[in-house]
Amino acid sequence: MAQFTKVASTADLAPGAAKCVEVAGKKIALFNLEGSFYAIDDTCTHRGGPLSEGEVSGEEVTCPWHGAIYNIKTGAVLGPPAPRGVARYAVRVQGSDVEVEV
Ligand code: FES
Repeated sequence: MAQFTKVASTADLAPGAAKCVEVAGKKIALFNLEGSFYAIDDTCTHRGGPLSEGEVSGEEVTCPWHGAIYNIKTGAVLGPPAPRGVARYAVRVQGSDVEVEV
């Protein structure tokens, strides 16, 4: 069953920043967009590029390897060459803990 797991503290991730966290064996890219946290799979569906290391622009992140674009809030793919989107995960903040539901 899905459950929330602490993956970071709010202080770890400034607005505009991202990092890769690991939960239950999954690599997840955690983003802070203007104070709200979002989580999607870190692994690009094209060749596995690390989305947490991509450039963020608004709600979009660009894969650092070949430039596929994803929506950070939904995981949907917005630009090639990625063939499909990635999973998104619910995120909640409890005090200073950032928790992801996996
Ligand atoms: S691995 Fe992400 S676009 Fe190729």
